[in-house]
Formats: sequence, C-alpha cells, structure tokens
Amino acid sequence: MNTKNETSQKEAHDLKKAKADIFLTGGIVLNVYSGELLKTNIAIKGERIWYVGPSSDVVSKDTQVLDFADKVLVPGYIDPHFHPWFVYNPISFGEEACRLGTTTLFCDNLIFYMLMGGRLFERFMDSLSGMPIKFLWFCRAVPQTPMVTEDELFSFENLERLLNNPLVQSLGEITRWQELLKGNQKIMEMIKATKKFGKRVDGHTAGAKYEDLNIISRSGVESCHESINAEEALERLRLGFHVILRESSLRRDLSDLLRIVTENKVLTDRIMLTTDASSPLFYEEFGATNHVLKIAIKEGIDPIMAYRMVTINPAVYFGMDHELGGIAPGRYADILALKDLFHPTPELVISKGRIIAEHSNLLEPFPWEGWEAFFPSASFSRRDWSAKAHLFQIASPKKSLTFPTIKLINPVITRIECVDFIMKDGLLDLDGKEGFCFLALINRHGKWITNGIIQGFGMVEGLASSFNTATEILAIGREPEAMSAAVNRVLEINGGIVAIEDGKVAYEFPLPLGGMMSDVSVRRLARKDMELREFLSKRGYPYDDPLYTFIFLPNDFLPDARINYRGIVDIRNNEVLWERRGLEN
Ligand SMILES: [Fe+2]
Repeated sequence: MNTKNETSQKEAHDLKKAKADIFLTGGIVLNVYSGELLKTNIAIKGERIWYVGPSSDVVSKDTQVLDFADKVLVPGYIDPHFHPWFVYNPISFGEEACRLGTTTLFCDNLIFYMLMGGRLFERFMDSLSGMPIKFLWFCRAVPQTPMVTEDELFSFENLERLLNNPLVQSLGEITRWQELLKGNQKIMEMIKATKKFGKRVDGHTAGAKYEDLNIISRSGVESCHESINAEEALERLRLGFHVILRESSLRRDLSDLLRIVTENKVLTDRIMLTTDASSPLFYEEFGATNHVLKIAIKEGIDPIMAYRMVTINPAVYFGMDHELGGIAPGRYADILALKDLFHPTPELVISKGRIIAEHSNLLEPFPWEGWEAFFPSASFSRRDWSAKAHLFQIASPKKSLTFPTIKLINPVITRIECVDFIMKDGLLDLDGKEGFCFLALINRHGKWITNGIIQGFGMVEGLASSFNTATEILAIGREPEAMSAAVNRVLEINGGIVAIEDGKVAYEFPLPLGGMMSDVSVRRLARKDMELREFLSKRGYPYDDPLYTFIFLPNDFLPDARINYRGIVDIRNNEVLWERRGLEN
C-alpha cells in the first residue's frame, strides 16, 4: 500500500512526464503579469495551460504543434459586464464573441431569472458551462421594473442560494442605487451575504453625484460601468470603484472616458472595458471586445495596458486570476494569435484548449441541445386570451382631459408633458394631434394594462413588442384596432416585435425565447435590426436604436417618466400619474 508521501511523489513524476495536447511555438507571448513581450513556448493539456517556457519536452508524437512565427499571442478577452438577452441569446452571442476573441463573458441573469425562476436558471447556467466560451454570471438583487412577484422571486433566501453557486461571481448591477442612500435593509443584507461568499458587488451608479458615490462606495459597491464622461470615471476611480469603461451602441463614450488615462495619467489596474448590451447591428458593424481594444489603442493607450484592461484586470476584479486572464500554467488555455498588438481581431482563437475560430470564422457551431427545456414553445402566455381595441383607449366622462404624456427626448430618456386632449364619445381623441401615439403596457397573461400616450416616437398604426425588461407587451400606435392586432400577433408567435398596417403584418421580428430573444445568428439579427430601424424611421421615429426605446420604457430608474406595472410613473418624484387597471379578460 502506498504511503501518502509515495502517492504524491508519483503524482509529481506523472506531472513531469505528461505530454501536451497542443504545443504553440515561435510566437511572441504577451505576459500580462509582467507587462513584457517574450518569445516562449506554450503547452496545452485538456482545457488548461500546462507549461510556458523554452522547453519542448512535453511534445509527443500525438501533440499538435502549431508554429506561430511572427505572431503575437495574447490571453482571450474578457467582457466583465454583458447582457446576453438583447434579442441575441447566450449561444448566438457567444459564437459571435468567441470568433472575435472574447473567451469569457460575465453575464446578467435578469431576464433568465425572471422567466425561469431560480432552479431552472441554475440548470441553465450548468448547461451553458459546457460551451467553448465561459459564461459566468452576475445576479441581480432587484429587478429593473416593478413586478407583482418581486418580493417572492428576489427574496433574500433565493438570492443567497444563487450567490452560493460557483458560476455566479457577483451581485449586480444595483440599478436602484438611491435605495443604498436610504440604507435599504434587504439590499444591505444582500451585499453582506455576497461578501461572505467572497464575491463582488457590481454597481450601476448612473447620474450619482460625488457625495452620493461616497455613500454607495461605503455601502460596499465595488464597480461601476455607467460613467458617461471622463470626469465621472475619475470620481469613481478615486473613490475606490473599479471602473468599467463602456462603448455601446447607445453610448459611444469610450474615447472620452479614456482621457482619464491619456490626460490624467491614472493607473490602469482598476480599469476594464465593455460593450454592455449593444444592438446586433453594432456587433456586426464593429465587433465586440476587439472593437473596444481598437478604440483604446487608437486613443493612444499603451497597447500592453489596453490588453490588460480586457484580460487580467477583469480576472483580478472577480478574484479569478488564478483561472483566467493570463498565459500562465494552470490557467484556462484561452489564447489568441494576432498579427501584432495593433490588430486585436484574432487570426486564431483557442478557448478552453481547443481551436475555435480561424480568421474570424467559427470552426463549428456551439454544441447546444436546444431551447425547449428552458423556453417551452407554448409558454409565452399562460392563458388563452386576446387583446381588444378598446383596451388601448383612454376613457373619461369629461369633455377634455389633461393627460401626462411621455415625451421621448432621445431613444431612452423621457420627459413628462401634460397635454390637453379632446374627448369624443367618452374616449380620448388623437385626431389632429401630430406626433402622439397611444401607449400601453399589457400583461402577457392578459391580467392588467397600463395606458398612456407617447410623443416623439413617430406615427405608427399599431406596434407591439414583448422585448422589454418587464417581459410584458408594450403597444404603441395611433389606431387601437391595429394595436390590438399587433398584440395578438405577438401572442400568436410566442413573443416578438410586430407592426400592423392596413390590417396586415407590416413588420415582424419573432423572439420565441421568452419573447426577448431570437434563436438565429447575430448576423441575421443585425439585418432584422436594420429593417426595424428603416421601418420606424420611415414612420417618423427620429433615433437610431428603437430596441433601446422598447427595452427601457417599462423601467423604474430612468428619468423622467416610465410606463410599468404601477402605472405611468414620474420617476424623479416616485409618483404614479396614471394608474394601471385590472382586466377581466
Ligand atoms: Fe449594463
């Protein structure tokens, strides 16, 4: 019988004798730990890096030897803050990101958790952990819209269980940061529990002033990706936050944000880069992490520091630098071959020890079993119901009505404008009111509706979208009949975005995965995204990103007005201006 000592000696011997599966030779390796570029060999065994150095002893006849003469090898990129439910899904986006060099995504659980609940979501995370790209998660402490089931779903017990899951790496992003100023007990308890598990607390401190940021930092929030200019980023960095600088389709801020490095000369160890949630068209046109790296290098950031922002910095932030973010023994073998540091789009991608993509082409689709287990095809609405035109009308016995309309001033931000409307036969009349549409948020199971009026969206007959963070159905239009037809078509196709004109479907974008995501590739989604922009632009929608308008209208945290489960809400004053109503349907 072996003694303990003999066993460990044998293991050590085997470790020395083991042979590599893949051996990379001839390349210049970016060492993100020392900041050097070194010519060295890399041996890969299974999913991990086995050896880095001058020796080739680990090569056997079965080893695949790849010669990277004249190439630079860098660690796979990491996006520390991503929302994998923005009409794309984790698989379709994972394939897109991976072919461009992103090998780890820290993902938002919000929509999956809301639609699946805790247990099924944990199974979902497990299923995704077998993919060539690494999906790790941040779990929300609160939703970003009021929900009937919020207290139950986002209970301390449920969230504590989720935080204990090794695939969940942080609590985030806390959109209701004003609650931290009030010392909200549940959120403070959640932060405490997160720290007990040794995990991070991600912030979302959009618009928070310096004094508030002090309180937010003191309450335990450790990062923020919401800076929209260099001054905001600098304030957060100085107050101890890790800052995640963003370039997204909605916010093209990165060049300005990077002035904290190019002008203020700050240290870059606590700086990371993200595309947050960008539209499919943005990824198709520009790319993912490779794109933000290009911007950083173009802005004059030392390339080695730029690469550290998308590799070792996020790995250190999440306490995972022993696993991710660098080319060193024991780490995941996530390695990209580049022409040089000035060309961040990789010529070859190795992820978890396997060659995944060459010249931006994925070698094989991700091995996904299918969506039925997580989004059963008939699960969009639990009830057989249909919308009727009268639901979208606003009734009052008065002759005229002053109504709190929601005015879009950009794709996302709104103002409240109280407007006088004539009532005709007891119903609010939009005739002669150019630029106004009826608006409604209707429960996907037909249980309740909030009515409203929007201006600045353009003039559509009837449009409905299940793509929004309330995961309900948003309807917009001049014609209640067309609005109800659009909602009914969304119900029929189990979720999506539909426009009706002259009684017919004029635009349709099916989103069969929970009404939020499609199962087609990002490239095809980019075409649908473009078609939607063209369709709405012809009807007077004045902005570029309609998907952002839909996603954020039912929120509970953006100024000034939102439409959600509570009603038409004045966010700044936390006041319901027009109540939702129950439906008998
Ligand atoms: Fe975000």
